[in-house]
Amino acid sequence: MCGIIGYTGNNPAIPAIVEGLRRLEYRGYDSAGVAFEKTQGLQVIRAEGKLGALDQKIAGLDTASSFCGIGHTRWATHGLPVERNAHPHMDGEGRFALVHNGIIENYAELKAELIAEGHVFLSETDTEVLVHVIAKGVSLSGDIRKGISWALSQVDGAYAFALLSRDHPKKIWASRKASPLLMGVGSEENFLASDIPAFLPYTREVVFLDNGDLVEMDASSWQVFDSITLKPKAKEVRHISWDVQAAQKDGYKHFMLKEIFEQPKVIRDCLAGRIQKGRVVLTELDALDIPGRLTIVACGTSYHAGLWAKYLLESWARIPVQVEIASEFRYRDSVFLPDDLILTISQSGETADTLAAVRIAHEAGVPILGLCNVVGSSIARESDQVVYTQAGPEISVASTKAMCSQMVLLLLMTLSWGARKGTLPEEVKERCLEELAEMPTTLERDLPVIRGKARSLCQEYSDAKSFFFLGRGQNFPLALEGALKLKEISYIHAEGYASGEMKHGPIALIDPQFPTFAMALGDELLQKVASNLQEVQARGGRIIALVNPGAAPAVDESWVLPDVWGPLKSFLVLPAVQLFAYEMAVYLGKDVDQPRNLAKSVTVE
Ligand code: F6R
Repeated sequence: MCGIIGYTGNNPAIPAIVEGLRRLEYRGYDSAGVAFEKTQGLQVIRAEGKLGALDQKIAGLDTASSFCGIGHTRWATHGLPVERNAHPHMDGEGRFALVHNGIIENYAELKAELIAEGHVFLSETDTEVLVHVIAKGVSLSGDIRKGISWALSQVDGAYAFALLSRDHPKKIWASRKASPLLMGVGSEENFLASDIPAFLPYTREVVFLDNGDLVEMDASSWQVFDSITLKPKAKEVRHISWDVQAAQKDGYKHFMLKEIFEQPKVIRDCLAGRIQKGRVVLTELDALDIPGRLTIVACGTSYHAGLWAKYLLESWARIPVQVEIASEFRYRDSVFLPDDLILTISQSGETADTLAAVRIAHEAGVPILGLCNVVGSSIARESDQVVYTQAGPEISVASTKAMCSQMVLLLLMTLSWGARKGTLPEEVKERCLEELAEMPTTLERDLPVIRGKARSLCQEYSDAKSFFFLGRGQNFPLALEGALKLKEISYIHAEGYASGEMKHGPIALIDPQFPTFAMALGDELLQKVASNLQEVQARGGRIIALVNPGAAPAVDESWVLPDVWGPLKSFLVLPAVQLFAYEMAVYLGKDVDQPRNLAKSVTVE
């Protein structure tokens, strides 16, 4: 977790760094800090809490003549979220300042050795150990690049870091292993950051750094070396089409709300160029055999998208599918079959557990297809083929539009494989594509209505301490997603369950204070769901149900969604559960975009 940024150029560094940190705050927000060059050496300013606290401290300082600096926004992994543990950290002599994202696993042993050699530590962090090891390496070799290389040979774990040196105040050094880091190449200014939006107002020219890259940069030049051999490496500068607008709130109160309302555009963008003359064009799949068995591996919301797709892939493409939580998959001794394909789903493309699954599949010689949103991310680069979801930058910690985009692409993959295998009737495919093309217009019309209903309901149910979210078939993964959204941003306990499973235990919890949010849409499982809901009502449970016109079971609150064709109902259910959670969190006064204890991309295990 954590966000890091570096700036070196001909403009004052601090405004660019603080603005960058604001755009990275979704990656962690329990403390923040900056280090920058001053005539008398390196100055470090840090503050506990959100970025505003750091802003206030910086406001009183003269930073206008500092043209090089680094910054950090933290999500604690080692040590309490207090100022002494905030980054940047310095070596004992004030020669170096370092910001770091990741975990140095052997920091305790290294720290003990350094203490025995006389080093003094001021924090409990692994990062402070890293900067001391680098300082030691530089002292041993007399050269910064060699010193970093030596230090990296001593540490185990994951890192992306940026380093300032008092003796070379216009330069930044950086390296990465398993944590994300990119370079932004500007005109007479260069950037380093954990994610593209951090420097998007300044440049869209990006260098994606690989594990083992070591960067040295100043305002007008940059070079990348292999961090072990120190041989120069050639790197490609890529142009990113995301615009600044897409990474800003655009008049919405929260990024989450903006991103929910972007779903019509996301669907259009995901379809653009993918449908030609009634055919799905996914050239990325052409290089792969049709899988005999598909294993989908992902975490959180992306995992729910995978579960949702299983129903379609099995029914329309007749491909056996298993969906795995990445953190479980990576430590199981999975059995692979000769015609297996691993499909990893990840918005960020940096989730550590999902990335580990990619590497396991590689070692086992199983082909890997990545479904990612962030171009050039680690999972995208390490997969054999990658399909990009075109959701644009997702800033809100709670993922919304990314899941919508994943569902569109998973649907297209199903249609593509189903057509290639001949398992999907032509008329079903045609109908699906026609209805999908209509979906953005339906959503544009209905999202404000859905939001209005969500707002009125959450006022009535805001006293609930727990919720069940129930669904069957494809609505089951959406029930899981509804529960996840509610708990992560409103902090109300919620459990997603398959409706038919309730009677096997969970129904014991039902009473008038424990409401149920049900998906009771007009599909072939409606009667079964209606029976499950009667069982809840018989125990005094209050029920909100998403229903279609004319096909509703009698419940306390019928939330009528427009009737759309077949599996596309999910594209309306999804924003309904998202907006319910959103409005509930707003009503309860929670921090919607930055919920406590969470971070946007989980780059640690
Ligand atoms: C929930 C959420 C997380 C992510 C999960 C996977 O709102 O955002 O559950 O879905 O951390 O992240 P990615 O898709 O980036 O691998």
